Amino acid sequence: MTENIPRLVLFPENTGVNKQGHLVIGGCDTVELAKEFGTPLYVFDEAALRNKCTEYKTEFNKRYPGTTVLYAAKAFLCRAMANLIKEEGLGMDIVSGGEMGIAASVDFPLENTFFHGNNKSADELRQALQCGVGRIVVDNFHELKMLDKLSGEKDRRPTILLRITPGVDVHTHANIVTGNIDSKFGFPLVTAEEAIATAMSLPNLNLTGLHFHIGSLIYETEPYLQAIEYILNLAAEMKRKKGFALHELDIGGGYAVQYNLDTPPAPPASYFAEALTDKVKQECKRHGLPLPKLFIEPGRSVVARAGVALYNVGVVKDIPEVRTYVSVDGGMADNIRPALYGAVQEALLANRVKAKEAGKFTIAGKFCESGDILIKDLPLARPEAGDILAVPDCGAYCIPQACNYNASFKVAIVMVNEGRARLIRRRETLEDLIRGDIV
Ligand SMILES: Cc1ncc(COP(=O)(O)O)c(C=O)c1O
Repeated sequence: MTENIPRLVLFPENTGVNKQGHLVIGGCDTVELAKEFGTPLYVFDEAALRNKCTEYKTEFNKRYPGTTVLYAAKAFLCRAMANLIKEEGLGMDIVSGGEMGIAASVDFPLENTFFHGNNKSADELRQALQCGVGRIVVDNFHELKMLDKLSGEKDRRPTILLRITPGVDVHTHANIVTGNIDSKFGFPLVTAEEAIATAMSLPNLNLTGLHFHIGSLIYETEPYLQAIEYILNLAAEMKRKKGFALHELDIGGGYAVQYNLDTPPAPPASYFAEALTDKVKQECKRHGLPLPKLFIEPGRSVVARAGVALYNVGVVKDIPEVRTYVSVDGGMADNIRPALYGAVQEALLANRVKAKEAGKFTIAGKFCESGDILIKDLPLARPEAGDILAVPDCGAYCIPQACNYNASFKVAIVMVNEGRARLIRRRETLEDLIRGDIV
């Protein structure tokens, strides 16, 4: 089936086409889903999500027993997702009081969460101390001192990691690089020794390890290997100088996802697991360090492919010898990625998947910005008003970055599995939009 329709490889693994030529995800006809729940609609394949959780857990634990997978919630979080992550036995990387609150609302074990962020507020840190998040990943000197003071006031001694910026080059979009020297995140290597010494000296903090995260959409292992080398050099040096003990090492996330057919398939979890765990073992051996407990934080690669956006086609506008614009009923308010990062995605007509390509079409959103273009020059059968357009790889960083631009309502989300669909977030209404307004 995928031989005839190459783009199907970008959809969740068990996506198919039924007799009517409709796209089927998780056993559900997407045309029926669009009818029942309306569009734009985000569809998540539950089995695909669960399989990814299992894959990361298995592949890393096989090679490095005791590795904990922390799902990076910023990629996609709602209460149903937090519940799923809890059921799968993963921990969670959270970055705000809001994400902490959503996790708490489904009784997610907060001791299995790591709290990140380059500018955590005092209120957020108090909330973290109060509800007992597992680790606070301290990002800078200001936070170190503030957290020590707040912990003293609350008579707590939180366990912390320090986020180090290893200064490695990653070949990805500049907006999603985080591990190079010129970054707002973390302690640069030049101040890392001072950060460790300071953290060790503060009475109300329990420093157990180090963290790095170098960026997103990374295909190669090389930058991770370099970062591991730098961090373990640092740990060894600080052991010599100050008796620092690296009990825990968190090597972040960032694993690639294939968004279009012009880019290579993303390597499986086993590819990263093999190279990264090997390097940790090698470097520890070289320095005579005991093996630390390992943490990883994949976000995008857990959810991206499991999520598909469905839109209704409206206006089809031909500009002779220039371009044909096909406008859909969503766009940058639910998927900012093309406008923000120049992300290149693909799509299919869900109601006639097998229709023959008839040219190139530019898929435009409905929002009042010329830059609201979802996909440029996409080879497709000629779309018509009423067609359903399915965009794969929308599971990560679309819903969390959604906004109400043009006073639009945020989209509905369904989870599909074995032919059943359940609404996990209803579409917003005007009441939702004006709820906070005061006249
Ligand atoms: C600290 C941290 N960990 C993990 C992630 C997840 O990255 P990805 O979704 O690319 O796996 C991010 C993403 O920004 C991050 O900042």
